[in-house]
Amino acid sequence: MSLVNTKEMFAKAYDGGYAIGAFNVNNMEIVQGITEAAGELKSPVILQVSKGARAYANHTYLVKLVEAAIIENPEIPIALHLDHGDTFELCKSCIDGGFTSVMIDASSKPFEENIALTRKVVEYAHDHGVVVEAELGTLAGVEDEVNVEHGKESYTHPEEVEEFVSRTGCDSLAIAIGTSHGAYKFKASQCTRNAEGILVPPPLRFDVLHECIKRLPGFPIVLHGSSSVPQEFVKMVNQYGGNMPDAIGIPEDQLREAAKLAVCKINIDSDIRLAMTATIRKYFAEHPDHFDPRQYLKPARQAVKDMVAHKIVHVLGSDGKA
Ligand code: G3H
Ligand code: 13P
Ligand code: ZN
Repeated sequence: MSLVNTKEMFAKAYDGGYAIGAFNVNNMEIVQGITEAAGELKSPVILQVSKGARAYANHTYLVKLVEAAIIENPEIPIALHLDHGDTFELCKSCIDGGFTSVMIDASSKPFEENIALTRKVVEYAHDHGVVVEAELGTLAGVEDEVNVEHGKESYTHPEEVEEFVSRTGCDSLAIAIGTSHGAYKFKASQCTRNAEGILVPPPLRFDVLHECIKRLPGFPIVLHGSSSVPQEFVKMVNQYGGNMPDAIGIPEDQLREAAKLAVCKINIDSDIRLAMTATIRKYFAEHPDHFDPRQYLKPARQAVKDMVAHKIVHVLGSDGKA
């Protein structure tokens, strides 16, 4: 199978009550961990590349790694997506450079400017067989240079979504219903604590999601900032010399509920970072004399694979849907 866009993936996911995982890729081990899990579980998958990933690893290296993953996993559909494109030029460069899907994130701009820029990207993308994700509403958290403080985020206004989608022609819409980027998704003051002292975040705004679905029947919705920040990784990081106090994510059961509704794409990056970092920290602590990168990258890659397999089966529900 060659690289696909997300049109058919999303149509099937919408009807089937599951979501496709969109996992951020930055190097070979991450690409391998994700696609080995998806391949074994016969799950469609989206590999997404941020501006920062492109600056780190280089566009050509990332595209070639994804092409290699397609050769190694011929039975599953794989899409290559630009995550948080912030300009027309960046989107165009990815469209011209082999991506099958791009996100234009003009969500921090005024409504009319968001529409104009999204429309421009859609026209170019559709002429090239590429699909476009757009965003309405802003998430809290950190992505590349954009850092939205807690309290400055804003939920999507459902009354805007119909006009936005019809005037832009976008193929999917990211909305803000209380997810957040990074490993510190909520301030302690926004949460309660459970019996073990672990923060319990405020629930996602399913009322906002339902209002959006009502106005956009059959249309794929995207959730960013959907890492669950598994506490076993946080504990491992802290046990082996790290310091991640009060790192907290989105509970998996809420994401599973969203995946059963119109949410067709769920973005996960921080959990990959955590799985790798926790594993490498542990490895270094237990093998202080080792210095061959293959020795510690191998278990790190396995940790990514195990984490992605867990998401596919228990959060996304996309196993067996290839
Ligand atoms: O939402 C942002 C993703 O986690 C990508 O992060 O911009 O640091 O590569 P990055
Ligand atoms: P997390 O930081 O929750 O993994 O979100 C990733 C994301 O939304 C990428 O666009
Ligand atoms: Zn995001």
